[in-house]
Amino acid sequence: MEGIIMKKIITLIMASVLSVSLFAEKLYVGTNAEFVPYEYLENGKLTGFDVELMELIGQKAGYEIVWKDMSFDGLIPALQTGKIDAIIAGMSQTTERQKAVDFSNPYLYFKSEHLVLVNNKSSLNNKEELKNKIVGVQLGSLQEEFATKLGANVRPYNSFLGALMDLENNKIDGVIIADKTGYEYLKSMKTLKTLDKITDNYPGASIALKKGSLEKVEKINKILENLKNTDEYNNLVIKYFPEKNN
Ligand code: ARG
Repeated sequence: MEGIIMKKIITLIMASVLSVSLFAEKLYVGTNAEFVPYEYLENGKLTGFDVELMELIGQKAGYEIVWKDMSFDGLIPALQTGKIDAIIAGMSQTTERQKAVDFSNPYLYFKSEHLVLVNNKSSLNNKEELKNKIVGVQLGSLQEEFATKLGANVRPYNSFLGALMDLENNKIDGVIIADKTGYEYLKSMKTLKTLDKITDNYPGASIALKKGSLEKVEKINKILENLKNTDEYNNLVIKYFPEKNN
């Protein structure tokens, strides 16, 4: 008798789990998977800190995450036109972007640094000398702003790889890139070196939502707040940012 009741309970639980996943609200999330360790492709599969964090948020908020990988500069327009519902792409909250989207609170709590890369043969001594020099950046990125501030002749690229290859071939004078991503590329691109660093004062990476999505922003902020200092969250940081864990 008890066995039958148990079976019924289990069937009920399984049915409800199934229906939750069948009827979960789909959240289309845009990213740009060329930003190690935030989001990148590993054997063709999307992975990274942001990807795992967003899946976790989805679980807790009852969203089924549907990923859309696209170019970085295409993310905000895609959000504005409703092709996606959210962006998680290591995106910093700049005042310019705040006009276009609603941001969650930052989901990483350390300051980000950026590398100024040059060719090994470069005669430049520091980032200030990039004034009037050609500096490659990813189109629409924070680094584009830094390069402009340095007075450089800014050359935007669709991908970091394109910029770095031009740097290897001496077609441009420097590239500004987020530290972790830069270190990854430096491992294989032996003709490049770090000239200098830039620390950014923007609040850390945040999730972007369409303007006016107050309810979603609050829901996500609450989940982020609850995740702070939990093992679930800390383990993700250790996994993807081992060096930040001091
Ligand atoms: N943090 C920088 C920014 O907000 C770079 C982000 C690049 N992210 C990416 N997935 N490519 O502009």
